[in-house]
Order: sequence, then structure tokens, then C-alpha cells
Amino acid sequence: MGQKIYFVLALAFVVLLLSNIADAGNLNAQMQSLMDKHMKDSGEKSFSAEEGGKLYYIKRMHSEKKEEISCISCHMDDPAKEGKTPVGKPIEPLSPAVNKGRFTDPEKVEKWFKRNCTGVFERECTPKEKGDFVTYMMSLQ
Ligand code: HEC
Repeated sequence: MGQKIYFVLALAFVVLLLSNIADAGNLNAQMQSLMDKHMKDSGEKSFSAEEGGKLYYIKRMHSEKKEEISCISCHMDDPAKEGKTPVGKPIEPLSPAVNKGRFTDPEKVEKWFKRNCTGVFERECTPKEKGDFVTYMMSLQ
């Protein structure tokens, strides 16, 4: 009888793990382990695509540049569209729905989070913000 309970608990744990993995969409193994790290670091139990979407669209006044800036300043209000840098250099769409290379390389993702969060928010993004953002982008597929 006692053993049965442990078995059921173990099974429930596996199901929970699998459902967490499914939440983040079709991430490859390396991206999944980055997301697992962000989840551990943030203490969250799941990431929110809705919060990630808010982060993408939120506009704020840059304290030094004295102008409004957001992720969509470069990536466009539709992530499936081509973006451009302030000097007019094209940026491939951010949405993995139309750009399969997106969110496949953890090093690249972290590098650009660091640079772009600093550029927009004048600070780095938190593990929760990064997890929410990737979850939002993956949900667009
Ligand atoms: C000043 C222009 C600019 C702004 C503003 C900007 N980005 Fe980017 N972003 C870029 C460029 C340039 C690249 C790299 C070129 C490429 O990957 O096509 C990039 C790439 C990325 C990537 C890499 C994705 C991948 O897997 O290839 C992520 C993640 C990202 N940006 C997130 C953000 C977030 C989050 C914000 C808002 C906080 C933001 N960006 C705002 C210019 C910008």
C-alpha cells in the first residue's frame, strides 16, 4: 500500500516536469536548459507569455537619450516583420514562427538580452523577464 503511494507521487512528478517542458514550446535541449536555469533563478513555477508580451511592447523614457524606447523600436510591433536598427540596418524577424533560427542558441539569446535590456531599461533583464519573453515569442508559433 505504502509503495503504491510513492509510485503515484513519482508519476505525478514526472507529469509535472513534462508539462513544464511543454509550456516553453518547441525549444531545443540547450535553450530548454537555459529556461530551466531562469526558472530556478527566478523561483517561478511557470513563465507567462502574457507578461513577456507586455515586456515586448512597453515604452519607456530613456533617462540619457531623453526619448521613448522599447523592444519594438527595433523589432517592430509585429515580431513576424523585419525590424531595423536606429541606423537603418535590417534585423531579421524575431518571431520563431517565421524565423526558425530564433531562440535556438542560448549564448546568442543571452548576449542580446544583455545588450538590448540595457539599451531599453538601462538595466539587465531578470531571469523571470527573460523566461517570460522567450515563452511569449515561442507562443507565437
Ligand atoms: C536598438 C535596437 C534594438 C532594440 C531596442 C532591441 N533589440 Fe533585440 N536585437 C537587436 C539586434 C541588432 C539583434 C541582433 C541581430 C539579429 O539577431 O538579427 C537583436 C536580437 C535580439 C535577440 C536574439 C534572439 C535570437 O535568438 O536570435 C533577443 C532575445 C532580443 N533581441 C531581445 C530584445 C528585447 C527583449 C528587447 C527589448 C527589451 C530588444 N531586443 C530591443 C536590436 C534591438
